[in-house]
Amino acid sequence: LGALSYSLLLEAQAVGQLKAKRNDSIAPFYAMELMRRARELERSGKSIIHMELGEPDFPTPSPVVKAAQRFLENGIVHYTSAIGLPQLKEAIAKLYQTRHGVLIDPQQVAITAGGSSALTLLLSVLTNPESEWLMADPGYPCNRHIIRTFGGLDVALNVDRSTRFQPTLQQIKDKWNGKTAGVILVSPSNPTGSVLTKEEIQSFADFVKEKGGALIIDEVYHGLTYEESAATAAGMNSNTFVVQSFSKYFNMTGWRVGWIVAPHGYSALLEKMAQNLFIAPPTIGQHAALAALMPETIEILEARKLEFKERRDYLYSELLDIGFKIEGKPSGAFYVWADCRPFGRDSFQLANELLENCGVAVTPGLDFGSHFPEHHLRFAYATSLDQLKEGIGRIRQYLLKPIS
Ligand SMILES: Cc1ncc(COP(=O)(O)O)c(C=O)c1O
Repeated sequence: LGALSYSLLLEAQAVGQLKAKRNDSIAPFYAMELMRRARELERSGKSIIHMELGEPDFPTPSPVVKAAQRFLENGIVHYTSAIGLPQLKEAIAKLYQTRHGVLIDPQQVAITAGGSSALTLLLSVLTNPESEWLMADPGYPCNRHIIRTFGGLDVALNVDRSTRFQPTLQQIKDKWNGKTAGVILVSPSNPTGSVLTKEEIQSFADFVKEKGGALIIDEVYHGLTYEESAATAAGMNSNTFVVQSFSKYFNMTGWRVGWIVAPHGYSALLEKMAQNLFIAPPTIGQHAALAALMPETIEILEARKLEFKERRDYLYSELLDIGFKIEGKPSGAFYVWADCRPFGRDSFQLANELLENCGVAVTPGLDFGSHFPEHHLRFAYATSLDQLKEGIGRIRQYLLKPIS
């Protein structure tokens, strides 16, 4: 090693040595690692079908892009208020009225840099050291890692076919104790696509309020349900918080805009923390998001939703036909949670095999918790039907090839 590279190496090691202890309890996002390997294979000339990441393949709807371009033309791109543009908060409050018939005061809305910052901001405000948050396993992995970042503890509620892949009230009651801060639910769920009913949400909200805890419902896949629309927890009671995003239904992942609907009385607290953690959400993204709520954009998004439904129906029946076990058709988001035990290997091994041997990237259950992660793979249908057909063809050929 030359002198320069040797000193760089020492510097890199030193960075590792200085890390805070809590990093050890935070796992990498395997889906991202898998995508990195998939991209590496692509760079080496291999064709890869991407069913690993939860990102819609559609471009941002053109009314949104045009609004952002118009906004940029005057070149005035300054900070906004720490919890967002007042006109966007008003438009979001109106969305709850038109979509759900729920009256929300714009003061209850805080705009954030995507659902991720909404969760970070909310958990920074609600988590005391050592306090416990109950959440589904399998479930969205970042939630438990954000909680650990703030010194809280995550407590798993094991979900499976017997619970319709969502926690039950009984599970919440059983795990509730003096240290419990609250419950985090995700509906529609990542990774299972299961959706909570209004009655279920109401019963959780009532219990959590009675206990003096907080209920956070992540509704970032709202709008993407294929039979009935999902019920919202917004405005349900004074202990219920909703997290939402322009990333999924609105096809705006890279614009980084999301929001919180908090009970009355949290606005100043959220604003104070947002000022300190983020200064403000992205200004361009917020102006673009205003156009995302216009009827002409919604029309485009509703047509795309029908495409998602067609993809879901195709993927669900093909995976069953290949021999995966799937417990009920997922009713929302863009994921199929498939049991791979019929193929005789654990999901991590199978995901690696599918990537390396047939160029199909899927996510192993490992990302989503410890409740039998080795049994499941998550297939995302956030890619075109043609790509899905190619991927399914490759999987079918690989897994069902006759033994020679
Ligand atoms: C359940 C869930 N919540 C939150 C997020 C964060 O998304 P974003 O920060 O893009 O809004 C994701 C992204 O995949 C998700 O699946």
